[in-house]
Amino acid sequence: MKRVLRLGVNIDHVATIRNARGGRHPDPIRAAKLAEDAGADGITAHLREDRRHISDDDIAALMAKLEVPLNLEMAATDEMLKIALRHRPHAACIVPEKREERTTEGGLDAAGGRRHLKPYVEALKKAGIRVSLFIEPDAAQLEAAVRLGAPVVELHTGAYCEARGRNRETQYRRLLDAAGVAETLGLECHAGHGLTYTTVGPVAAIPTIVELNIGHFLIGEAIFGGLESAIKRMRALMDKARSEAGGERSA
Ligand code: PXP
Repeated sequence: MKRVLRLGVNIDHVATIRNARGGRHPDPIRAAKLAEDAGADGITAHLREDRRHISDDDIAALMAKLEVPLNLEMAATDEMLKIALRHRPHAACIVPEKREERTTEGGLDAAGGRRHLKPYVEALKKAGIRVSLFIEPDAAQLEAAVRLGAPVVELHTGAYCEARGRNRETQYRRLLDAAGVAETLGLECHAGHGLTYTTVGPVAAIPTIVELNIGHFLIGEAIFGGLESAIKRMRALMDKARSEAGGERSA
């Protein structure tokens, strides 16, 4: 079976830099268009409750100007649901959100939060938005995603990326097992968080993962060599790992 591996470029941190001075530069929409040209298959943006990076206007502009699909990362709140239903992005990834965290530190508790999450999943699906749940690579969470009716899961790769030595192998094994379980359960499997040139290869080699969402590292690398070059290099590393593992790259 042909497996494509898509790259979703997360542009949140272009907005973080813009917001540091409160003006318009650097413009995350310009970055998104450049990412499209450099080979991104989609753009990902997280509209946080505190609007620390991406703004409401950014989402409207992305919807108007992007040619590739927009994946809106959102917390399961009424405010975010209203915004998602207004814009109808291609996809919405439901993520846990804590005001005090620096980034999305862990996966959603799909198992424990089923009652709360169900109406959000249903409303987004009803609007024709492809729903994914950002979860830890854990069988119980995957099974909960199925019970919730989510067609897609995104596995949190943070623990794998941060692990050192033998723990890196343990964390990688969790991703590998979870991606296998996702396949068995009929879930489309994505992955992301903390991925770098060093950590992306083994994840890209997992044949049942069809999308990686990568942001912070790419925007950081762009400072040194430009965004286009960072995206192209990441894309090449993903494609190499996937083709060495016997899969196929994105068309
Ligand atoms: N996927 C999800 C669901 C996320 O919340 C994030 C971070 O916002 C990413 C991917 C990208 O993570 P990073 O910026 O560390 O590459």
